[in-house]
Amino acid sequence: MPKAYVFTAHGGPEMEAFLDLPRPVPGPGQLLAAVRAAGVNPADWKRRAGFRPPGVRPPKLPAVLGGEVAGVVEAVGDGVAGFAVGDAVFGNPVTGGYAEFTLLPAEQAARKPAALTFTDAATLPIAAATAYDGIRQLGLARGATLLITGAGGGVGVAAAQLAVQAGLRVIGTASAGKKDFVEALGVIHIEPGPGVADRVLAAAPGGVDAIYDLVGGGALEELASVLHDRSKLITAADRDTASRLGGLPVARARNRGVLDAVAELAAAGTLRPLVTATYPLPRAPEALRLVEQGHARGKIVIEVPSG
Ligand SMILES: NC(=O)c1ccc[n+]([C@@H]2O[C@H](COP(=O)([O-])OP(=O)(O)OC[C@H]3O[C@@H](n4cnc5c(N)ncnc54)[C@H](OP(=O)(O)O)[C@@H]3O)[C@@H](O)[C@H]2O)c1
Repeated sequence: MPKAYVFTAHGGPEMEAFLDLPRPVPGPGQLLAAVRAAGVNPADWKRRAGFRPPGVRPPKLPAVLGGEVAGVVEAVGDGVAGFAVGDAVFGNPVTGGYAEFTLLPAEQAARKPAALTFTDAATLPIAAATAYDGIRQLGLARGATLLITGAGGGVGVAAAQLAVQAGLRVIGTASAGKKDFVEALGVIHIEPGPGVADRVLAAAPGGVDAIYDLVGGGALEELASVLHDRSKLITAADRDTASRLGGLPVARARNRGVLDAVAELAAAGTLRPLVTATYPLPRAPEALRLVEQGHARGKIVIEVPSG
């Protein structure tokens, strides 16, 4: 039976395990994909720990980890148009990503451009799409100044590239070790930690026009003082703190249109996926620990060899 990396109950990493699971069968509107690569996201360990966004039902256990994949269509469910067996695709699976096989709802899947590797395509459905949704939501004019917190992480590197492309002046917080990494994207680097708001104000004396927050908590609270119009504060990381400060959660589109848009940008080289580490499926625990420590650089991807 195909292998999958799952959590068997809510809790810490000790709840994770490799299991042999039956190959899933696509229902109406679904694709069965042989996974070639799975992006690793903070949401993976948060889900294992029991965190759930409002309105999301508890997972059926054991639950396969992972929420973004690229792979090859193995079977097509009833009512699916536009996909065929053998197509290279990427998207948001409903049966997890750290596995040899998964199910993708066709409306949350798109064809992988030939110019993109499976590994790069697996970074698009969550990290790049969240960045894309947020930059569009802010709707800033060229020349505006955007502050991105956590600019050196998975969503941050994508948001920074999209913002620079849109003609924004981008200031980003990232730890000292990521200075060169974020500056190479055209970001004005600011070290997080005590005094961060003053350092941002030194770079943007009148304050910033918007904040795209990817960290939350006290870091966000301190930085909110550099933003006058709180309706221009959005977060992917901490909706409670943002809402207390007058901001909003990023509104996720979660549709094929956004997947196609980010894939086109990535294929054109405008949006570089910046995968900094890959792990084969049997080393999925190491990949997830790296992201769970909270200081990943760019994107981390699990690769699954073709059968
Ligand atoms: N709502 C959604 O649909 C959605 C989608 C994607 C992501 N998210 C959420 O958005 C957040 C970011 O996701 P991601 O994939 O970019 O995560 P990530 O790759 O782990 O990046 C987060 C970055 O935050 C920085 N950071 C961590 N703790 C910090 C602190 N105390 N102060 C300042 N910076 C800190 C880290 O950089 P340093 O090493 O520089 O500290 C890290 O690179 C996560 O909370 C994730 O769950 C939500």
